[in-house]
Amino acid sequence: MVQLDPQRLPVHLAVIMDGNGRWAQQRMLKRIVGHQRGAETVKMVVEQASLLGIKYLTLFAFSSENWSRPILEVRALMTLLKKYIRQETARMLRKNIRYNVIGNRSDLPPDVNDTLDEAIRKTASNDGMVLTLALSYGGRQELCRAAAHLAKDAISGKVSVAAITPDLFDSYLDTGGLPDPDFLIRTSGEMRISNFLLWQLAYTELYFTDTNWPDFTINELHKALADFQSRERRFGKTSDQILQRGGLSND
Ligand code: FPP
Repeated sequence: MVQLDPQRLPVHLAVIMDGNGRWAQQRMLKRIVGHQRGAETVKMVVEQASLLGIKYLTLFAFSSENWSRPILEVRALMTLLKKYIRQETARMLRKNIRYNVIGNRSDLPPDVNDTLDEAIRKTASNDGMVLTLALSYGGRQELCRAAAHLAKDAISGKVSVAAITPDLFDSYLDTGGLPDPDFLIRTSGEMRISNFLLWQLAYTELYFTDTNWPDFTINELHKALADFQSRERRFGKTSDQILQRGGLSND
């Protein structure tokens, strides 16, 4: 097992869970079986992240672009999501985990929204890890929603144009209130961001593994976190400045 320094874990871990379909196809199984196995990996990562003391975990569970998949796969994913949330809410309560959702919830089926509302309400007072599910989420769409909302507030005089700073803009995003991810893991060998958290990933450390999401194990998670701990985060500064200030902030 890899040794991890508990003081140097990411505060916010984000994950692009990719490769469910390929995992299934390689085994002559239906794609949905890959998603079902992927949901088991979700359980493991949520449990581990919470055990390790990671404060924020954000999972890319369904993208804005995923709506154009075959209707049967979309329906099966929605059913799986509902089942996962219903089954896992009791565990979230025991582990003091709070549910959060980002993305365009108005696109989601009403029964999925009802299930999410119930889980969010039940876990609202938990103050352990925040588990954010990105659902019907696209980074460009989120940026447009934030810009439209900000423009409305500027027109109505609630916000002056001179007051528009990165911090203010950040508060208009779906992720307003969450710190930016420190570390992003993407499985399945694809080396791209795929419209995930475009604004928030500005200074995030990126990690790519060839493993498909259903095969991603605790050991792999620990290996990825050890890799994060080996990195020097400079946020545009020099190494010497970072060593002098011991700072991790990007101000
Ligand atoms: C990408 O694999 C994965 C998705 C589009 C869905 C992710 C869903 C899960 C991990 C399971 C359900 C989620 C929760 C939160 C319980 P892909 O289908 O794009 O794989 P491929 O690139 O190999 O086709």
